[in-house]
Order: sequence, then C-alpha cells, then structure tokens
Amino acid sequence: MTRFPAHVLKSVLDKPWQAVELENPIPLDALPTPALVLYRPAFERNLKTMAQHLKKHGKGQRPHAKTHKCPLIAQQQMAAGAVGVCAAKLGEVAALVSAGVQDVLITSPLTSAPKIDVLNTLLEHSQDLKLVVDSSTGMDALEQGIATDRRLGVVLDFDVELGRTGTRDDALAQKLHDRVSSDPRFYFAGIQHYAGHLMHLQTFEERKTRSLESWQAVLERVAKFSPKIITGGGTGTFDIDVLQDQITDLQVGSYIFMDREYLDIDAQNDAQGHPFESSLSVACTFVSAPKQGMATVDGGYKAFASDSVTPMPITLDGCQFYFGGDEHGFVKLPAGYQEPVLGQVHQFMVPHCDPTVNLHDYYWVQEADGLIHNLWPITARGASW
Ligand SMILES: Cc1ncc(COP(=O)(O)O)c(C=O)c1O
Repeated sequence: MTRFPAHVLKSVLDKPWQAVELENPIPLDALPTPALVLYRPAFERNLKTMAQHLKKHGKGQRPHAKTHKCPLIAQQQMAAGAVGVCAAKLGEVAALVSAGVQDVLITSPLTSAPKIDVLNTLLEHSQDLKLVVDSSTGMDALEQGIATDRRLGVVLDFDVELGRTGTRDDALAQKLHDRVSSDPRFYFAGIQHYAGHLMHLQTFEERKTRSLESWQAVLERVAKFSPKIITGGGTGTFDIDVLQDQITDLQVGSYIFMDREYLDIDAQNDAQGHPFESSLSVACTFVSAPKQGMATVDGGYKAFASDSVTPMPITLDGCQFYFGGDEHGFVKLPAGYQEPVLGQVHQFMVPHCDPTVNLHDYYWVQEADGLIHNLWPITARGASW
C-alpha cells in the first residue's frame, strides 16, 4: 500500500496546542503585526449563544473545526455541550486527537490509499472517528486500507444542488450502506447533507425556503436507512435548520468569529441584527504614507483571505481597505482625516475567517481590559491535507 509520509503526520501530532500565558500582558501596539487578534469576551458570548440556541431547539452541536484549526477552541466547544466536532482535513483531525478531542467527523470524503493510511493511524489515537463516504472508490479505499482491529463510523454524504461532495445516486447509496453494514470494521453512523451554496444568500427568507427544501429532498431519500445521526448546516442556516425535526445536529463553524461575509447577510430579525458578534480581527501597523489621503499597513494577501470581501477597518472610522500586495494593504483615509501616524496599530475585521486563520500561527487573545494575555496556537494551520 502507498504510505503517507510518516514525519508529516508526526509533525502535526507533536505540535503544541496548549495556551501560552504571557508573563506581562501586552497592548495591541506591542504586537508583532500583522497579528490575528481574538477578542475573548465576544468569542465566549458567541459560544454561549449558539449552545443555548441549539439546546432550546433540542439539537446537538457538532461545530466545524475547519474554521479555527485550534484544539483549544474545540475543547471549549465540547465543554459548551457539543456532541462532537467536525474536521475537513486529516491534518485537523491529527491536531484535535493529539489534544484529546476524540469524537471527530471528517466531512470531506477520502479516496486515496495514503490518506486512508493516515486515517488508519489516527484510529489508534481515537476510537470515535467518523468519515463521510459518497463513492465506491472511497469505500474500496477504506476496505483496502483499514486494519481489522479498527472501527470507523461511516456517514453517507448526500448532495442535492451544491455539486461539491455527496452522492445524488440513491442506488449507489444503498450499495454503500450495505457494504458498511456487512463489514465489522465499519458501522453506519448516519447521513450528512451540506448545502454550502445557500449559507450566504442575502435574505433570511430565501435561505429558509431553499435550505428547508434541500433538507426535505434528502430526508425523503434517506428515511429507509433510519440514520441515527442527521448532520449538516452552518452559520447561515443555524436558525433555519433547527425547524426541521429529523436533523440531529448542526455543523456550525463561523459563528464563533462572525467574519465580514457573514455580518453582511441579513439576520432573521433586522431590528435585532445577528445574535453573534465579530470577535476576530487582524492588527496591522501604519508603515508608510507616500500618497496624500492614503496610508500603507503591513498586512496584505499573507495576512487576510482575499477570496471575497475586503477587510473592514474597525478602529478607523470612514476608512476603506484595499489590498496592496502580499505584505501590504492601503487604507484610504476620509477627507479631513489627520495625517496618518506611522507606527500606529489598527484592527481590521477579517473578511472570510477560515482562510484568514490558516495564514497565522496564533490567536493573540485579548481580554476585556484591552490587553493580550494569552496565545492560542493554531495547531492545524497549513495542515491542509
Ligand atoms: C461540510 C461543512 N459543514 C459545515 C461548515 C460550517 O459552515 P459555517 O462556517 O458557514 O458555519 C462548512 C463550511 O464550509 C462545511 O464545509
């Protein structure tokens, strides 16, 4: 069998995940910018709000660790009552299990022998891993690569419209179910449906209609399997999918940070706004100002994800951020703004949280006193396999 390079897996399993407490808390302007700043009071409110919401509706939470890639955050989500967590990548699973987070659902299918080799090793670290399967090739790879003394939960993944992962072929689903059920190494854990293309639809009503329709289509197809777990959904449908009785748990990810992309969509109740707050920003320093009305900061494509909207200045009223290259951003200052003070540090709300997090080594954890007290390692950053 083709093996996965063992040192790559080991390097993540051995990577530190524990918090580092600063002996002397530091202010934002002492940060090595660009630095990813997590404002803990808002983050904790988000954790609590989601936990209470799902509990009220009788749903489990299976938060997605792809968002934060940080075992310390996964531990806090488990402590807040999560039934387990999700991971998109094996590198994330390695970071999680090495920190003792055992119940992990891998939400993307695996189809190659080296990846199954990693999964086989990770099953030594946790008896509680689950993997989605949506193809015969994926099932073949599992049958060939998982040792006889291991046990893996298999979740069948169903697609309706997104066209990313999940099967649309019900005859195939039946065959996969039969293969899983007849092999003692595997057990049928349930089904997954993720309609990611609906998460950022602007209006609540459109998200509601389309998401409930999508789920209804899947639930009719999977009823014959009597799945124990029916999992899916995300932050964009957190207050919609709870209306569907049969769903057991939601895979919410971004709610802990609430990036600009999510704050831009309409909340269920416009007057109340979103129940989750922005807790994640990147602190950058003014490093130059060659042009009138503009200032240059030390954060660009290597500090912020650039796949969607732009970073939003938080501590600079009326300013606009533009990407200025790999290491730089431009801040357009409003008319009448005083001269930019070089050396000053400003915060920018992250545009899209997941890929922004993957660019940084640590969360610099800021407390209500405005100071940074702790560093939380982003253990699975870069482990995108
Ligand atoms: C399969 C799956 N589930 C859940 C999520 C979490 O979504 P969100 O960050 O929108 O809450 C994602 C995000 O891409 C995902 O791919």
